[in-house]
Amino acid sequence: MQNKKIRLFSLLLSITLLTLTFTACGQASSTPAAEEPTEQTQEEAKPISRPDDGRTVVGVSMPDRFLERWNIDGAFLKAQFENDGCDVVLRYANNLIDTQIKDIREMISQGADLLVVTAVDGTALSSVLEDARSQGIKILAYDRLIMETDAVDYYVSFDNYKVGVLQANFIIAELGLKTAETSQTIEFVTGDPVDNNARYFYNGAMDTLKPYLDSGILTVPSGQSGFFETATAQWSPDIAQQRLQIILNSYYPRGTRLDAVLCANDSTALGATRALAADYSEKNHVIVTGQDGDIANIYNILNGTQSMTVYKQLKQESIVTVSLGKAIISGEMPEEDLISESGWDFDCSYNTEDYNNGNKVVPSYLLRPIAITAVNIEKELFETGYYQRNSGGLIYATK
Ligand code: GAL
Repeated sequence: MQNKKIRLFSLLLSITLLTLTFTACGQASSTPAAEEPTEQTQEEAKPISRPDDGRTVVGVSMPDRFLERWNIDGAFLKAQFENDGCDVVLRYANNLIDTQIKDIREMISQGADLLVVTAVDGTALSSVLEDARSQGIKILAYDRLIMETDAVDYYVSFDNYKVGVLQANFIIAELGLKTAETSQTIEFVTGDPVDNNARYFYNGAMDTLKPYLDSGILTVPSGQSGFFETATAQWSPDIAQQRLQIILNSYYPRGTRLDAVLCANDSTALGATRALAADYSEKNHVIVTGQDGDIANIYNILNGTQSMTVYKQLKQESIVTVSLGKAIISGEMPEEDLISESGWDFDCSYNTEDYNNGNKVVPSYLLRPIAITAVNIEKELFETGYYQRNSGGLIYATK
């Protein structure tokens, strides 16, 4: 009887959280149905006379400043395009779709020749980008694929499916699932449902864990393993923390062990480790995954509260984007040659099959993510100089 009450209570709570999640998404990512042309937009839709003053203008539209990496991406892209003599209009959309649309309209009116866009919501930019395209502006999807439009020329990102595979393989190895005879438990804290990458991370992880979930050697006491029911709006650490605390209080009474939490990125991992610290009563070390190599999470890997992260060398992503951007501004349509003629000292593959945005297969350049644990962190991140410690021992990311 008691459990039934708890389950009912936690179900109600999860529904509330989910409603909160989707309302939040709604607000943040309510794709305006057909972007009803208001007086304003009708005005803006008219071809804007773009100054042709011989300058090369690049518009860089990032999703938000809250998540650590976009600040680094934006700075790298701005510096490198400016190094190549371009004028850069860099904007952050505070994770709001309307703001991102306004930012892109501003870049168009400032004479952008190229737009480099990381979409807040991959399905919400068709109209403004088709406007840009109609004025001959080139468009690059940066890190997150832009969906449902022909108005995107190329996509540059990491192999995001592989990110999920790396996280799952780490859990399989750490829990010894290949040879385990007794079942172990896991919970999932996945990404922002409007972020097109979140689905790749999720599929990579679930496809890899499926045999163990199917055989029952790995179980999910909360029963929550679907993409939407495990989603975290806006990648918010607070939403991740709240949801996991509800799960711990509902499905992990004293004596019930949790072995792993698969978190899709570092901001959600931060929420998860806080929830475990607050509401998990057992003494075992719970495996927690992540992604991005955010500073706070690097400390957590060094102090053992987080088990791994998937590192993406952001400078590589900006180097590929800048050389691709320059090529297409000058009217080229690069393919494999962009890589073979680059002299880059890092892996990059050219893909013309896997990234269908619903309108077309977008030619893509993909980089290789790497798994970082307490074992290889010094070698992979500090000896390479990607991260350093100042004289006081404080860690910071350099490149
Ligand atoms: C994804 C990105 C990840 C992570 C996440 C949260 O789109 O690929 O690296 O940063 O957003 O920002």
